[in-house]
Amino acid sequence: MNEFVLNHPLITHKLAILRDINTGTKEFRELVTEISTILMYEAMRDAKLEKTTIETPLEKMETGMIDEDNYAIVPILRAGMGMVDGVLNVFPNAKIGHIGLYRNEETFQPVEYYYKMPEGINKREVLVIDPMLATGGSASATISRLKQDGVTKIKLLCIVAAPQGIKCIEDDHPDVEIFCATVDRELNENAYILPGLGDAGDRVYGTK
Ligand code: PRP
Ligand code: URA
Repeated sequence: MNEFVLNHPLITHKLAILRDINTGTKEFRELVTEISTILMYEAMRDAKLEKTTIETPLEKMETGMIDEDNYAIVPILRAGMGMVDGVLNVFPNAKIGHIGLYRNEETFQPVEYYYKMPEGINKREVLVIDPMLATGGSASATISRLKQDGVTKIKLLCIVAAPQGIKCIEDDHPDVEIFCATVDRELNENAYILPGLGDAGDRVYGTK
């Protein structure tokens, strides 16, 4: 069991608005950002703190800080870009890589069309972000591609996951932890998540 689900009444409340067909683009984007920030907090729970001394207005103290240079964020285009602002809210200096994938509408297999990572990606922990984990094909292909480049520590942050997508990642990449806001019931015949929120890319960008 490599998945962590945000179980909180406020998240259920926010997801209810996010899922609603009547929620418009502005509010949809704002909610994706807000939930992504919270997912980021959870995904960073095991982050290594480096000892540092700071001075408060009253005294010196020994505390810890995170070296943001050790991390990279990788949104899966397009919909993953919708989560970037939320992650940057808590990690403003994060290096960002991009992978472009779309699902073939008949086979549901991911097709890669873009790949550009920050320098030294193999030395960084990578947080892959995408609102939807449906069959898991896109996330699994992304993780495989990053591993080809020598990345050894990867986490996956998504908003809505389907059981099939989680199983796919657990089977293909048992070393990868998944952080999601909810696990929904199932996939329909078009590999859309039920009840889900529809097409995340279209809702983030208002394309339909
Ligand atoms: C969506 C979503 C994921 C993928 C999930 O992207 O953002 O990347 O589908 O499905 P999977 O788990 O079955 O692979 P889509 O292919 O619709 O592209 P888009 O973000 O450009 O709209
Ligand atoms: N991609 C989406 O945007 N939504 C789904 O439900 C499945 C894949």
